[in-house]
Amino acid sequence: MKILVAGDRGYIGAVLVPFLRAAGHDVDGLDLGLYEGCDLGPALPDAGPRATLDMRNVTPAGLSAYDAVLCLAALSNDPLGDLNPAATYSVNLDGTLALARAAKRAGVERFLFSSSCSLYGAAGSAAVAEDAELFPVTPYGETKVIAERELSKLADDNFTPTYLRNATAYGASTRLRLDIVVNNLTAVALTTGQVRLESDGTPWRPLVHIEDISRAFLAILEAPRDVVHDQAFNVGRAQDNVQVRDIAEMVRAAVPGSTVTLADGAGPDIRNYRVDFGKLESAFPDLKLRWSVRDGIAELLQAYTAYGLTHDDFVSARFVRLRRIRELLAAGAVDEMLYRTTSSPFPACAPRGLDAGPV
Ligand SMILES: NC(=O)c1ccc[n+]([C@@H]2O[C@H](COP(=O)([O-])OP(=O)(O)OC[C@H]3O[C@@H](n4cnc5c(N)ncnc54)[C@H](O)[C@@H]3O)[C@@H](O)[C@H]2O)c1
Repeated sequence: MKILVAGDRGYIGAVLVPFLRAAGHDVDGLDLGLYEGCDLGPALPDAGPRATLDMRNVTPAGLSAYDAVLCLAALSNDPLGDLNPAATYSVNLDGTLALARAAKRAGVERFLFSSSCSLYGAAGSAAVAEDAELFPVTPYGETKVIAERELSKLADDNFTPTYLRNATAYGASTRLRLDIVVNNLTAVALTTGQVRLESDGTPWRPLVHIEDISRAFLAILEAPRDVVHDQAFNVGRAQDNVQVRDIAEMVRAAVPGSTVTLADGAGPDIRNYRVDFGKLESAFPDLKLRWSVRDGIAELLQAYTAYGLTHDDFVSARFVRLRRIRELLAAGAVDEMLYRTTSSPFPACAPRGLDAGPV
């Protein structure tokens, strides 16, 4: 298949694209380039055709060659949505729909949307399936809900959107993110000796490794149309619904000498949901998600150690999306809606080791 991945230069894209290529697909990329140079280890290779482009400006003419478009491009977490909700709506909702409408007009048959389990928001401790009521608690979660609803209206005999409601991701990637819980706790434990919890550790979180997200994308891409047409799938494994304090304990056990601590004033987090992954399992009996959280922590520790991750890296803008966006805003490289202000490349990601200050 000829595939376009929008958001190919981000945390998941950096793993997904080589995964799809290894499965024999012909993959191009399209990305605004917000995190160019924000790498851990060797720079993300420039392999394959890729465009530095805002998906809000895509036209059908550029898309007619593709069998499938995968939309990962987004402002990708809850705190980013709090920075400027209008920008999150513009990128995550208007951008996704602009890309989907252009794809549909160009005759692209498959559209895979990287949605999120965070649209379940404050669902409590009973596991929620795809037909559950949605209670997003942030602008980010809201955009995922509305984007799915609007994409569904585009579904017809020639256009098949599918919504992958990914659990919170973890795992090593060249485009590392340290603003997601497993990666964060593992990094802080390694660099300070403390597994520092910002909440009281009681919230439930479903987790999934980025390679297993890639496996789910591949399975859905290659599935018969009637299995995936206008369908949402929770992506993750039942056994990886865990409480944040369980993650902390797994990290503590993996980092010799570390201890678990609570941040001052840490209380419960309102984002709290357990997720039912039965639909993915029954629709794709051959799809085996392989990673356990323990193995993912071991993989992260190996990558952090191999590439010399330091505490200064941990507090820098390089691996925290909100800090990097603030850096680009302060440099005037993007406007408040995160449109590029010039055609010249974005300022380089700050050198490793510079403290960006509090988020
Ligand atoms: N990482 C997770 O835990 C997780 C969990 C569930 C869902 N998701 C979803 O998966 C997708 C990818 O997540 P990620 O962790 O790789 O995020 P990321 O922030 O690392 O990558 C997003 C990429 O999108 C690009 N981008 C942003 N705005 C753009 C625009 N207007 N046009 C083109 N490109 C643009 C960025 O430059 C970046 O490379 C997102 O949609 C996110 O909401 C992520």
